[in-house]
Amino acid sequence: MSDSFIIAIDGPAAAGKGTLSRGIAEQYGFHHLDTGLTYRAVAKALIDAGLPLDDETIAEKMAREVELAGLDRDILSRHEIGEAASKIAVMPAVRRALVAAQRRFSERPPGAVLDGRDIGTVVCPAAPVKLYVTASPEVRAKRRYDEIIGKGGAADFDAIFEDVKRRDDRDMNRADSPMKPAVDAHLLDTSEMSIEAAFQAARSIIDAALSRNA
Ligand code: DC
Repeated sequence: MSDSFIIAIDGPAAAGKGTLSRGIAEQYGFHHLDTGLTYRAVAKALIDAGLPLDDETIAEKMAREVELAGLDRDILSRHEIGEAASKIAVMPAVRRALVAAQRRFSERPPGAVLDGRDIGTVVCPAAPVKLYVTASPEVRAKRRYDEIIGKGGAADFDAIFEDVKRRDDRDMNRADSPMKPAVDAHLLDTSEMSIEAAFQAARSIIDAALSRNA
């Protein structure tokens, strides 16, 4: 029995799960791991070392060496790293290595919030709270577009929209641990919901689970 209260948050990119997860971790004083960063860190390490992205043995070796402490979101959030991450995320040996590290992280007391694609289904299937945060592809593409423009960058909405759909397709249709809601996950569709409303909805689900656990 672990002393850690685990909150599993899954869903596609740009649905708001990162902001929500960080807010929840802060609210409850729990540790937080964005598991997407673990896949991104492996991809970046391969790119930096000039190694191929399609060799499972090499990628697995990198995955075993990845350090979960100090994953830098700013550096790892680059678009081409996300693309590379979604390629190595289809490899079962890479997933096994990263899932083992993610499970170790989830056991840190007093609790941990893990966000990703397969937390409720594969990494922490016994988590007492599972949320599946989603939003329509159009809304997610628009959020990404606004974020880039807001930072003073240049963005092409149609290209972002195509990219969101391509990434969803790869994440949902891979053979190993495809992205999908766990049967006992609470669905939060943020298409027409503010982040504050999503946060309040998540809080009432978590508070109810915490009082059942007390
Ligand atoms: O959430 P993100 O964009 O940082 O994720 C990068 C890639 O890693 C994405 O294509 C899906 C993959 N991923 C995964 O397969 N399983 C997870 N638990 C988290 C991310």
